[in-house]
Amino acid sequence: MDFIREYVEPGRPLILTDFAKQYPALGKWTPHFFSSHYGSLSHEVKGVRYSIAEQMGLIQTSTEEKPAPYSYNLNIDLAFPELRPDVEPLLLGRRDRLATRLLLRKLTRGTIKHEVFFGGKGASFPYLHVDLQHLHTQITQLYGDKEFFLFPPDQTPYMYPKPDYPLVSAVDNVFNPDPVRFPLFCQAKGHREMLKEGETIFFPTGWWHMTRIPGPSISYGRALLERGNWPAYLKDTYNGWKQKSALMAMAAYAIGRCCGALMDLGEPALPLI
Ligand SMILES: [Fe+2]
Repeated sequence: MDFIREYVEPGRPLILTDFAKQYPALGKWTPHFFSSHYGSLSHEVKGVRYSIAEQMGLIQTSTEEKPAPYSYNLNIDLAFPELRPDVEPLLLGRRDRLATRLLLRKLTRGTIKHEVFFGGKGASFPYLHVDLQHLHTQITQLYGDKEFFLFPPDQTPYMYPKPDYPLVSAVDNVFNPDPVRFPLFCQAKGHREMLKEGETIFFPTGWWHMTRIPGPSISYGRALLERGNWPAYLKDTYNGWKQKSALMAMAAYAIGRCCGALMDLGEPALPLI
């Protein structure tokens, strides 16, 4: 399959049913695994600290009425670095620019590349949004299922982007939108997909999305950067630096252009997935 040409370049999302069969994480990353290997580790969810063992217990007893705390964006490289080989190979292979050594750390500005999400029944990502820095997104369900609500970029006029934060929608209840406050959202055309355990969803930059969890769930998330979203990523990086220092912004942009040109040179001969 010519994944880049058929899906990445035209901005089409895709569900891959078998890709994660290559991951050692599939069948391994279960609530029992995290409880028994990392049970005493603690981390914060919405201002409250939970041990991993505590959280694994909560996601299994979670209900619609009382959802377990949902931890998303937990950085695997920091929390569980030894588990990184469990989620290889990379979906974009060597075309993934976040994986190349040519990409300087300063340019990524804290981008979390590999994330794990722990959630239980009734939990949901709290708001409809577009992912930061114009990165593409991969989510793989390693345990349990997850429901996705997706709206293509051409539906942005119906999404009510927040004036002060246009990557987040002002619609506060996607499942039961207020027709008086958000009449256009009621006309938006989106997609609803239940991602099953073992499946991987890819959606390109610009797609609005949020999720809902029907039961205990462990997901792996990966940000993706390639030739197509490189210019927008670089512009975003420039704008981010500009808030701190105009000089640093210009330097980051110039370095980014050079890195991009070098990566362009190395890519035509690379095999496609
Ligand atoms: Fe997201």
